[in-house]
Amino acid sequence: MVASSAAPVVVAEELTRTFGDLTAVDRLTFAVPRDQVFGLIGPNGAGKTTTIKMLTTLLHPSDGHARVAGYDIAKEPGEVRRRIGYVPQLISADAQVTGYENLWVVGGLYGIPRAERGPRIREALELLGLAAFGDELVRNYSGGMIRRLEIASALLHRPEVLFLDEPTVGLDPVAREAVWEQIDLLKRRFGTAIVLTTHYMEEADRLCERVGVMHQGKFVAVGSPAELKAGLGQPGATLQDVFRRYAGEEVELSGAYREAGRTRRVAARLE
Ligand SMILES: Nc1ncnc2c1ncn2[C@@H]1O[C@H](COP(=O)(O)OP(=O)(O)OP(=O)(O)O)[C@@H](O)[C@H]1O
Ligand SMILES: [Mg+2]
Repeated sequence: MVASSAAPVVVAEELTRTFGDLTAVDRLTFAVPRDQVFGLIGPNGAGKTTTIKMLTTLLHPSDGHARVAGYDIAKEPGEVRRRIGYVPQLISADAQVTGYENLWVVGGLYGIPRAERGPRIREALELLGLAAFGDELVRNYSGGMIRRLEIASALLHRPEVLFLDEPTVGLDPVAREAVWEQIDLLKRRFGTAIVLTTHYMEEADRLCERVGVMHQGKFVAVGSPAELKAGLGQPGATLQDVFRRYAGEEVELSGAYREAGRTRRVAARLE
């Protein structure tokens, strides 16, 4: 049977992960169709990264299951990995070599044959607006360029699903807008399904067809940004108001950046 193009490419059912006594992700159920962006928002420690790590097969679920690009994350992790791209919360590009060289190594990891790798790398650099900077050392890149290089590296093998954990943390408004445009383009041109996390409510509002608000491992609200805002019953409500209502915390741009720094240190310890 040929799968309908409307069939979801990410399906999570009661997905759960515990660490000792802590239930970091608590029976999450959601689905993401092709060419849609699903956003996970919620305060620090809500379980967003843990959810992404399970869906990318880096962490085993404690309970529940999920299928990504048609394959079971627990039973067929190799098939899942071949069909996804992942940009982790921590910056992972090597600053000592050029953008092109970074992508060359990643292309090798994905098993892209040498003859095909060069053209694919040039295509990915072009797509992310980095064509002129491929031969520049990454240590001379700005934060926005590094993030775009990381997205390029997650796209080399043309994944069906892209997972982005805080894709624009710490970027200036212009660099952020550039990343947003690339995400829109991927969705429109290739039909890529995208799951992202963010602390920027404006970003969730701008990019996501649907958003899940997480709190202590659970979804406390799921819907389109418009539905979530309308659900508050206040004229002019923003996604920030939605966050405050459901997750009980204020997110400020400067605060979110500070928190992300803290999270990176925690994440580095946990890697
Ligand atoms: N490897 C681990 N061992 C123990 N606890 C963990 C581990 N990974 C995550 N946790 C805990 O699980 C909870 C969820 O963490 P997670 O990183 O998924 O949150 P998050 O929503 O991504 O937060 P942030 O917004 O800060 O990135 C936290 O309480 C965290 O401390
Ligand atoms: Mg996280």
